[in-house]
Amino acid sequence: MDFQSVKGKVVVVTGASRGIGAAIAKLYGASGMKVVCAARSKEQGQAVADEICGKGGDAIFIRTDCSDASQVKALIDGAVAHYGCLDGVVSNAGIGQGGSPLHEYETEDYDKIFDLNSKGVFAGMKYGAEAILRSHSKGGFLINVASIAGLMPQRGQALYTATKFGVVGMTRVAALDYAKYGITVNAICPGYTKTSIFGDAPEQAMEFFANDCPAGRMGNPEECAYLALFLASDMARYITGAAIPVDGALSAGSKNVTSWKHPEILEEEN
Ligand SMILES: NC(=O)c1ccc[n+]([C@@H]2O[C@H](COP(=O)([O-])OP(=O)(O)OC[C@H]3O[C@@H](n4cnc5c(N)ncnc54)[C@H](O)[C@@H]3O)[C@@H](O)[C@H]2O)c1
Repeated sequence: MDFQSVKGKVVVVTGASRGIGAAIAKLYGASGMKVVCAARSKEQGQAVADEICGKGGDAIFIRTDCSDASQVKALIDGAVAHYGCLDGVVSNAGIGQGGSPLHEYETEDYDKIFDLNSKGVFAGMKYGAEAILRSHSKGGFLINVASIAGLMPQRGQALYTATKFGVVGMTRVAALDYAKYGITVNAICPGYTKTSIFGDAPEQAMEFFANDCPAGRMGNPEECAYLALFLASDMARYITGAAIPVDGALSAGSKNVTSWKHPEILEEEN
Protein backbone atom coordinates (compact mmCIF):
# COMPACT_ATOMS: atom_id res chain seq x y z
CA MET A 1 0.00 0.00 0.00
CA ASP A 2 1.47 3.35 -1.01
CA PHE A 3 0.67 6.62 -2.75
CA GLN A 4 0.41 4.73 -6.06
CA SER A 5 -3.19 3.96 -5.02
CA VAL A 6 -4.26 7.49 -5.99
CA LYS A 7 -3.22 6.94 -9.64
CA GLY A 8 -6.17 7.34 -12.02
CA LYS A 9 -8.58 8.63 -9.37
CA VAL A 10 -10.75 11.47 -10.67
CA VAL A 11 -10.92 14.45 -8.32
CA VAL A 12 -12.48 17.91 -8.31
CA VAL A 13 -10.56 20.63 -6.47
CA THR A 14 -12.36 23.92 -5.85
CA GLY A 15 -10.46 27.18 -5.47
CA ALA A 16 -7.66 25.58 -7.47
CA SER A 17 -6.37 28.78 -9.08
CA ARG A 18 -3.97 29.69 -6.25
CA GLY A 19 -2.95 29.07 -2.64
CA ILE A 20 -3.81 25.79 -0.94
CA GLY A 21 -6.18 24.64 -3.72
CA ALA A 22 -3.51 25.12 -6.41
CA ALA A 23 -0.94 23.25 -4.29
CA ILE A 24 -3.38 20.33 -3.85
CA ALA A 25 -4.32 20.25 -7.55
CA LYS A 26 -0.64 20.27 -8.62
CA LEU A 27 0.38 17.53 -6.17
CA TYR A 28 -2.60 15.41 -7.23
CA GLY A 29 -1.70 15.93 -10.89
CA ALA A 30 1.95 15.02 -10.28
CA SER A 31 0.76 11.87 -8.47
CA GLY A 32 -1.22 10.58 -11.45
CA MET A 33 -4.71 11.71 -10.50
CA LYS A 34 -7.12 13.19 -13.06
CA VAL A 35 -7.76 16.68 -11.76
CA VAL A 36 -10.70 18.97 -12.42
CA CYS A 37 -9.57 22.44 -11.34
CA ALA A 38 -12.39 24.81 -10.42
CA ALA A 39 -12.18 28.54 -9.71
CA ARG A 40 -13.72 31.80 -10.82
CA SER A 41 -10.63 33.10 -12.59
CA LYS A 42 -10.35 31.41 -16.00
CA GLU A 43 -6.85 32.71 -16.59
CA GLN A 44 -5.35 31.51 -13.29
CA GLY A 45 -7.38 28.27 -13.09
CA GLN A 46 -6.56 27.29 -16.67
CA ALA A 47 -2.88 28.05 -15.97
CA VAL A 48 -2.87 25.52 -13.11
CA ALA A 49 -4.52 22.86 -15.32
CA ASP A 50 -2.04 23.65 -18.13
CA GLU A 51 0.91 23.36 -15.72
CA ILE A 52 -0.30 19.90 -14.62
CA CYS A 53 -0.71 18.77 -18.25
CA GLY A 54 2.65 20.31 -19.19
CA LYS A 55 4.33 18.02 -16.66
CA GLY A 56 2.67 14.92 -18.13
CA GLY A 57 -0.45 14.95 -15.93
CA ASP A 58 -4.14 15.02 -16.81
CA ALA A 59 -6.25 18.04 -15.80
CA ILE A 60 -9.03 20.29 -17.03
CA PHE A 61 -10.37 23.61 -15.81
CA ILE A 62 -14.06 24.36 -15.27
CA ARG A 63 -14.94 27.94 -14.40
CA THR A 64 -17.10 27.87 -11.26
CA ASP A 65 -18.37 30.36 -8.72
CA CYS A 66 -18.73 28.01 -5.75
CA SER A 67 -21.05 30.39 -3.90
CA ASP A 68 -23.68 29.42 -6.50
CA ALA A 69 -24.83 25.83 -5.81
CA SER A 70 -26.11 25.38 -9.38
CA GLN A 71 -22.60 26.10 -10.68
CA VAL A 72 -21.15 23.54 -8.26
CA LYS A 73 -23.65 20.98 -9.61
CA ALA A 74 -22.60 21.87 -13.18
CA LEU A 75 -18.94 21.45 -12.11
CA ILE A 76 -19.52 17.93 -10.78
CA ASP A 77 -21.61 17.03 -13.85
CA GLY A 78 -18.83 18.42 -16.07
CA ALA A 79 -16.18 16.34 -14.29
CA VAL A 80 -18.23 13.15 -14.76
CA ALA A 81 -19.01 14.04 -18.38
CA HIS A 82 -15.28 14.49 -19.12
CA TYR A 83 -13.74 11.61 -17.16
CA GLY A 84 -16.71 9.20 -16.93
CA CYS A 85 -16.70 8.91 -13.13
CA LEU A 86 -15.73 10.67 -9.91
CA ASP A 87 -13.71 9.48 -6.91
CA GLY A 88 -13.24 12.59 -4.80
CA VAL A 89 -13.97 16.25 -4.16
CA VAL A 90 -11.77 18.71 -2.31
CA SER A 91 -13.97 21.63 -1.23
CA ASN A 92 -11.30 24.23 -0.66
CA ALA A 93 -12.65 27.52 -2.07
CA GLY A 94 -13.16 29.92 0.79
CA ILE A 95 -12.75 33.54 1.80
CA GLY A 96 -11.45 35.11 4.98
CA GLN A 97 -12.55 38.19 6.83
CA GLY A 98 -10.88 41.14 8.47
CA GLY A 99 -11.15 41.04 12.26
CA SER A 100 -14.01 43.02 13.84
CA PRO A 101 -16.22 42.61 16.87
CA LEU A 102 -19.44 40.78 15.99
CA HIS A 103 -21.69 43.89 16.04
CA GLU A 104 -19.62 45.56 13.34
CA TYR A 105 -20.40 42.88 10.77
CA GLU A 106 -23.35 43.49 8.44
CA THR A 107 -25.93 40.90 7.46
CA GLU A 108 -24.53 41.22 3.92
CA ASP A 109 -21.16 40.03 5.29
CA TYR A 110 -22.98 37.02 6.72
CA ASP A 111 -24.55 36.14 3.36
CA LYS A 112 -21.31 36.58 1.45
CA ILE A 113 -19.18 34.36 3.65
CA PHE A 114 -21.83 31.71 4.30
CA ASP A 115 -22.69 31.46 0.59
CA LEU A 116 -19.14 30.36 -0.20
CA ASN A 117 -17.60 28.87 2.96
CA SER A 118 -20.71 26.96 4.03
CA LYS A 119 -23.25 26.54 1.19
CA GLY A 120 -20.48 26.09 -1.40
CA VAL A 121 -18.92 23.31 0.69
CA PHE A 122 -22.33 21.72 1.26
CA ALA A 123 -22.96 21.73 -2.50
CA GLY A 124 -19.53 20.18 -3.19
CA MET A 125 -20.26 17.44 -0.69
CA LYS A 126 -23.87 16.86 -1.80
CA TYR A 127 -23.31 16.66 -5.55
CA GLY A 128 -19.89 15.07 -5.02
CA ALA A 129 -21.28 12.28 -2.82
CA GLU A 130 -24.05 11.55 -5.34
CA ALA A 131 -21.56 11.29 -8.22
CA ILE A 132 -19.06 9.21 -6.20
CA LEU A 133 -21.83 6.79 -5.17
CA ARG A 134 -23.06 6.53 -8.79
CA SER A 135 -19.47 5.90 -9.90
CA HIS A 136 -19.18 2.95 -7.47
CA SER A 137 -15.75 4.33 -6.56
CA LYS A 138 -13.57 1.86 -4.68
CA GLY A 139 -11.67 4.66 -2.94
CA GLY A 140 -14.07 7.58 -2.67
CA PHE A 141 -13.29 10.62 -0.57
CA LEU A 142 -14.55 14.06 0.36
CA ILE A 143 -12.03 16.50 1.80
CA ASN A 144 -13.04 19.89 3.10
CA VAL A 145 -10.51 22.61 3.75
CA ALA A 146 -11.79 24.08 7.01
CA SER A 147 -9.43 25.95 9.36
CA ILE A 148 -8.15 25.92 12.90
CA ALA A 149 -11.02 28.44 13.24
CA GLY A 150 -13.26 25.37 12.95
CA LEU A 151 -11.63 23.91 16.07
CA MET A 152 -10.83 26.96 18.14
CA PRO A 153 -12.89 30.20 17.92
CA GLN A 154 -10.91 33.16 16.61
CA ARG A 155 -11.52 36.53 18.24
CA GLY A 156 -12.88 39.10 15.78
CA GLN A 157 -13.82 36.35 13.30
CA ALA A 158 -17.39 35.52 14.35
CA LEU A 159 -18.69 34.75 10.87
CA TYR A 160 -15.57 33.00 9.52
CA THR A 161 -15.40 30.89 12.70
CA ALA A 162 -19.09 30.00 12.38
CA THR A 163 -18.63 28.84 8.78
CA LYS A 164 -15.60 26.71 9.66
CA PHE A 165 -17.24 25.11 12.73
CA GLY A 166 -20.11 24.32 10.33
CA VAL A 167 -17.74 22.71 7.84
CA VAL A 168 -16.21 20.54 10.56
CA GLY A 169 -19.74 19.58 11.69
CA MET A 170 -20.86 18.67 8.15
CA THR A 171 -17.65 16.69 7.71
CA ARG A 172 -18.31 14.58 10.80
CA VAL A 173 -21.98 13.96 9.97
CA ALA A 174 -21.19 13.00 6.37
CA ALA A 175 -18.50 10.62 7.64
CA LEU A 176 -21.22 8.85 9.62
CA ASP A 177 -23.57 8.90 6.59
CA TYR A 178 -21.06 7.35 4.17
CA ALA A 179 -18.78 5.20 6.36
CA LYS A 180 -20.53 2.03 5.19
CA TYR A 181 -20.49 3.10 1.54
CA GLY A 182 -16.77 3.48 1.03
CA ILE A 183 -16.50 7.27 1.05
CA THR A 184 -14.16 8.81 3.62
CA VAL A 185 -14.92 12.37 4.74
CA ASN A 186 -12.31 14.50 6.45
CA ALA A 187 -11.42 18.13 7.08
CA ILE A 188 -8.00 19.71 6.76
CA CYS A 189 -7.60 22.56 9.25
CA PRO A 190 -4.78 24.89 8.18
CA GLY A 191 -3.21 27.33 10.59
CA TYR A 192 -1.49 30.48 9.31
CA THR A 193 -0.54 29.53 5.76
CA LYS A 194 1.28 31.79 3.30
CA THR A 195 -1.34 32.49 0.62
CA SER A 196 -3.14 35.47 -0.87
CA ILE A 197 -5.93 35.06 1.73
CA PHE A 198 -3.86 37.55 3.75
CA GLY A 199 -4.25 40.04 0.89
CA ASP A 200 -1.69 42.83 1.19
CA ALA A 201 -1.17 42.42 4.95
CA PRO A 202 1.97 44.34 5.92
CA GLU A 203 5.24 42.52 6.62
CA GLN A 204 4.78 43.29 10.34
CA ALA A 205 1.46 41.40 10.41
CA MET A 206 3.05 38.40 8.69
CA GLU A 207 5.84 38.48 11.28
CA PHE A 208 3.23 38.50 14.03
CA PHE A 209 1.58 35.38 12.57
CA ALA A 210 4.93 33.59 12.32
CA ASN A 211 5.85 34.48 15.91
CA ASP A 212 2.37 33.62 17.20
CA CYS A 213 2.80 30.07 15.90
CA PRO A 214 4.65 27.66 18.24
CA ALA A 215 6.61 26.40 15.20
CA GLY A 216 7.93 29.95 14.72
CA ARG A 217 6.88 30.23 11.10
CA MET A 218 3.85 30.28 8.83
CA GLY A 219 2.95 27.14 6.90
CA ASN A 220 3.33 26.63 3.14
CA PRO A 221 0.33 25.59 1.01
CA GLU A 222 2.23 22.41 0.04
CA GLU A 223 2.15 21.27 3.68
CA CYS A 224 -1.67 21.06 3.44
CA ALA A 225 -1.38 19.33 0.06
CA TYR A 226 0.71 16.50 1.54
CA LEU A 227 -2.15 15.69 3.93
CA ALA A 228 -4.69 15.96 1.10
CA LEU A 229 -2.67 13.39 -0.88
CA PHE A 230 -2.54 10.99 2.05
CA LEU A 231 -6.30 11.34 2.67
CA ALA A 232 -7.00 10.62 -1.03
CA SER A 233 -4.86 7.50 -0.94
CA ASP A 234 -6.01 4.02 0.02
CA MET A 235 -3.64 4.15 3.01
CA ALA A 236 -6.23 6.40 4.68
CA ARG A 237 -9.36 4.27 4.10
CA TYR A 238 -9.99 3.90 7.84
CA ILE A 239 -9.53 7.60 8.59
CA THR A 240 -12.90 9.32 8.34
CA GLY A 241 -14.73 11.98 10.34
CA ALA A 242 -11.43 13.62 11.32
CA ALA A 243 -10.62 17.33 11.40
CA ILE A 244 -6.83 17.41 11.17
CA PRO A 245 -4.80 20.56 11.94
CA VAL A 246 -1.82 21.47 9.74
CA ASP A 247 -0.72 24.34 11.93
CA GLY A 248 2.69 23.98 13.61
CA ALA A 249 0.90 23.32 16.95
CA LEU A 250 -1.08 26.59 16.83
CA SER A 251 -4.30 24.87 17.97
CA ALA A 252 -2.60 22.38 20.30
CA GLY A 253 -2.99 24.52 23.42
CA SER A 254 -2.07 27.81 25.03
CA LYS A 255 1.45 29.13 24.59
CA ASN A 256 2.75 29.67 28.13
CA VAL A 257 6.32 30.87 28.51
CA THR A 258 8.75 28.01 29.15
CA SER A 259 12.50 27.93 29.59
CA TRP A 260 14.67 24.93 28.81
CA LYS A 261 16.94 23.68 31.61
CA HIS A 262 19.31 22.13 29.05
CA PRO A 263 19.22 24.12 25.78
CA GLU A 264 22.71 22.77 24.99
CA ILE A 265 21.02 19.57 23.74
CA LEU A 266 20.38 21.47 20.50
CA GLU A 267 24.15 21.88 20.00
CA GLU A 268 25.05 18.23 20.62
CA GLU A 269 26.39 16.17 17.72
CA ASN A 270 24.99 12.69 17.04
N1 LIG B 1 -4.18 30.64 4.27
C1 LIG B 1 -4.53 30.42 5.52
O1 LIG B 1 -3.86 30.86 6.47
C2 LIG B 1 -5.75 29.59 5.82
C3 LIG B 1 -5.96 29.22 7.15
C4 LIG B 1 -7.06 28.46 7.47
C5 LIG B 1 -7.94 28.07 6.47
N2 LIG B 1 -7.73 28.43 5.18
C6 LIG B 1 -8.71 28.01 4.18
O2 LIG B 1 -8.05 27.45 3.07
C7 LIG B 1 -8.88 27.60 1.91
C8 LIG B 1 -8.03 28.14 0.77
O3 LIG B 1 -7.57 29.42 1.13
P1 LIG B 1 -6.16 30.02 0.65
O4 LIG B 1 -5.42 30.42 1.86
O5 LIG B 1 -5.52 29.13 -0.35
O6 LIG B 1 -6.71 31.36 -0.03
P2 LIG B 1 -6.47 32.03 -1.44
O7 LIG B 1 -7.21 33.32 -1.37
O8 LIG B 1 -5.03 32.05 -1.80
O9 LIG B 1 -7.21 31.03 -2.42
C9 LIG B 1 -8.60 30.89 -2.39
C10 LIG B 1 -9.05 30.15 -3.61
O10 LIG B 1 -10.48 30.11 -3.62
C11 LIG B 1 -10.95 30.66 -4.85
N3 LIG B 1 -12.25 31.31 -4.67
C12 LIG B 1 -12.55 32.42 -3.93
N4 LIG B 1 -13.86 32.67 -4.06
C13 LIG B 1 -14.38 31.72 -4.88
C14 LIG B 1 -15.65 31.44 -5.40
N5 LIG B 1 -16.71 32.22 -5.10
N6 LIG B 1 -15.81 30.37 -6.21
C15 LIG B 1 -14.77 29.59 -6.54
N7 LIG B 1 -13.53 29.79 -6.09
C16 LIG B 1 -13.34 30.85 -5.27
C17 LIG B 1 -9.87 31.63 -5.29
O11 LIG B 1 -9.95 31.87 -6.67
C18 LIG B 1 -8.63 30.83 -4.90
O12 LIG B 1 -8.35 29.84 -5.87
C19 LIG B 1 -10.04 28.51 2.33
O13 LIG B 1 -11.19 27.73 2.56
C20 LIG B 1 -9.54 29.14 3.62
O14 LIG B 1 -10.59 29.50 4.49
C21 LIG B 1 -6.65 29.19 4.84
